[in-house]
Amino acid sequence: MKKNLLVLIVGLILTFNACKVSSQSNKSPQQEKNIEQKVDSVLALMTLEEKVGQMLQYNGSWDVTGPATGTTNEKKLERLKKGLVGSMLNVVSVKHTREAQRLIMENSRLKIPLIFGYDVIHGYQTMFPVPLGETASWDMNLAERTAAAAARETAASGVHWTFAPMMDVSRDARWGRIMEGAGEDPFLNAEIAVARINGFQGSDLANEKTIAACAKHFAGYGFAEAGRDYNTVNIGIHELHNTILPPFKAAAKAGVATFMNSFNEIDGVPATSSSYLQRELLKQDWNWNGFIVSDWGSISEMIPHGIAKNKKEAALLAVKGGSDMDMEGGAYESSLISLVEEGKVSEELIDDSVKRILRVKFQLGLFDDPYKYCDESFENSEVYSDANQQLALEAAKKSIVLLKNENNILPIQDKVKSIAVIGPLADDKDSPLGNWRAQAVKNSGVSVLEGIKKHAPNSIKVTYAEGTKLSAGERNFLSPLTINENDTSGFAEAKELAENSDLVILVVGEDAFQSGEGRSQTNIGFLGVQDELMKEIQEVNKNVVMVLMNGRPMDLTWSNQHIPAIVETWFLGSQHGNAVGEILFGKYNPSGKLPVSFPRNVGQEPLYYNQKSTGRPNENSEVTYSHYTDAGRDALFPFGFGLSYTNFEYGKIKLSDDSFSASEEIKASIEVRNTGKMAGEEVVQLYIRDLFASITRPIKELKGFEKISLQPGESKTVSFTIDAELLSYFGRDKKWVTDPGKFHLFIGPNSRDLQQVEFQYK
Ligand code: NOJ
Repeated sequence: MKKNLLVLIVGLILTFNACKVSSQSNKSPQQEKNIEQKVDSVLALMTLEEKVGQMLQYNGSWDVTGPATGTTNEKKLERLKKGLVGSMLNVVSVKHTREAQRLIMENSRLKIPLIFGYDVIHGYQTMFPVPLGETASWDMNLAERTAAAAARETAASGVHWTFAPMMDVSRDARWGRIMEGAGEDPFLNAEIAVARINGFQGSDLANEKTIAACAKHFAGYGFAEAGRDYNTVNIGIHELHNTILPPFKAAAKAGVATFMNSFNEIDGVPATSSSYLQRELLKQDWNWNGFIVSDWGSISEMIPHGIAKNKKEAALLAVKGGSDMDMEGGAYESSLISLVEEGKVSEELIDDSVKRILRVKFQLGLFDDPYKYCDESFENSEVYSDANQQLALEAAKKSIVLLKNENNILPIQDKVKSIAVIGPLADDKDSPLGNWRAQAVKNSGVSVLEGIKKHAPNSIKVTYAEGTKLSAGERNFLSPLTINENDTSGFAEAKELAENSDLVILVVGEDAFQSGEGRSQTNIGFLGVQDELMKEIQEVNKNVVMVLMNGRPMDLTWSNQHIPAIVETWFLGSQHGNAVGEILFGKYNPSGKLPVSFPRNVGQEPLYYNQKSTGRPNENSEVTYSHYTDAGRDALFPFGFGLSYTNFEYGKIKLSDDSFSASEEIKASIEVRNTGKMAGEEVVQLYIRDLFASITRPIKELKGFEKISLQPGESKTVSFTIDAELLSYFGRDKKWVTDPGKFHLFIGPNSRDLQQVEFQYK
């Protein structure tokens, strides 16, 4: 790492002031003890004002991700120089982070380095698929590698910490932030959260190519009523533990460095002030020693929530509730010192928060070298590197889900000589980047049209018409272009092309900023005149492949009835179009499976496969059973569903035993054979149902999966281990238990098409 003289001098002064500290690179008990000693020795030097300073996080105003909350830049500057700020967000690049760090290092008394945080949600400048899309790969190794690559680009740009992964289980397509998580299932959410954390943090936080991760939003944020962002959440204690918390618990166990709390209330208590969640569970029961950052202004937002009259009361509730750092909220800044001086908050509480923050800074090695992430040559070579682009392409291909493929219209056959590519998103190079795009360069994605042109054989003539335009966005303050509301000026040209082509590829869906924070919708169909466009095209040519771009499940009922092939591509990131091209022309066999149910219409939302039975499940009843009279109660495309260009045949489930007790385990295995002509990958899924328990239990729950790859004619046996822990749930007496009794075990290619066997837990 390059260091100039000044940095070296500052480093020396710092080493002295911070009680001769040196960085920790792994977590042996001795090294952890060393860190604790160093944390204590720094804490012992700090005044109350300096301690409270560590608990403040300022926005850097280079990039705003929430409503501005008041502290002027002059005031921020003044506090930075005095060392009265612990962290900044949205300060990126070696140049800017170095500048901000210098303010502290060259002016403050104790020279405690800043930790820089940023929303690196699916890439820094190289964009990987949006998290919901990447989850569709069901490839945990891939998720770890993309997180590691995003971490390297981020670290190379001077930033130490990402506010990711989001692990909010969500079952509501209306919620705009469903794109940012891993969908509706707690087990899948937990698996991928851990993979992402391992990717971001690596095995050693002190390595300057890794960054600290953040488990967010703690908790319940994805359960906003009616899918309206920031809305009230009501979750019973059993649902909280069995559905919402498993990914967070797994994240804490995996050693995630930080947590972020959430904007929402749960049953009347804003999460930011929930001592049950933050103190009792996370810090005490789960024995987690990182720090919790509030969400943007969420401490002060307890005023409009109506449980704090002013910032002082909000700060009191939050600090008692266990929030360690105030993100751009000003409540801790204005009130914590006086709360301590008035005896309303004990200094021990402050010390606990500060120790947690210092601990992470030590783990990152920032006390050793506050500029260790400031290496321009690494920044130049790593950000948007060719290797990362290759990885983005691999991730994009693996995230695509083939939803329908009537008469094997895909992969595109040799007899096709002309293709009309139609739709407002077809040549859009910006939407592929999705929302939460960090430092992605506008219009830097490969469009679907570009990908098709690149991968189509020379024998095929490719033409293009947008049909309806993208236009200057009214809905989106971040986006240059959105789906136009009423433009039909391109219909005639599009129809003519469609009529004169062997095949139409219709690229429709949502623009990038239709989903994301604050982007809830009541309509999950196609905005603007896309429906009309699809209908008119379908009238003149029935050979249509729909390429869908979107950040949420959409209502595909009409498309499913009228369009022979549907390819779900989400927002796949920098290499979007190339991945689509490879899939359409059969250079890659689709292997993705839905991480979220696609409904028959919006009225079914929230919709999820792991529902409860209810007391009236009986489909043979006439009217008075749990259903809708105007639509099915099942999904149009269920959780776990996705087709391949080849066929997989499942053998019979074999159980090593049909009963077992606490100290034992059994194995369930199944043979899967590729009976088609193309090599392919299959995600074999295990579900379990607890038939009778102390509380009602879901009709099935994902409990395992394995992605296997099979050559034509090849078969593999997949085995799952079942033990008492896998069957346990948070029961009526508020403890995790496994009840003796009967269970159903299911294995299959998705949550609907399953084989079933029974076993007994004694
Ligand atoms: C608010 C969002 O809820 C959170 O996820 C994000 O990390 C912060 N803003 C910072 O941008």
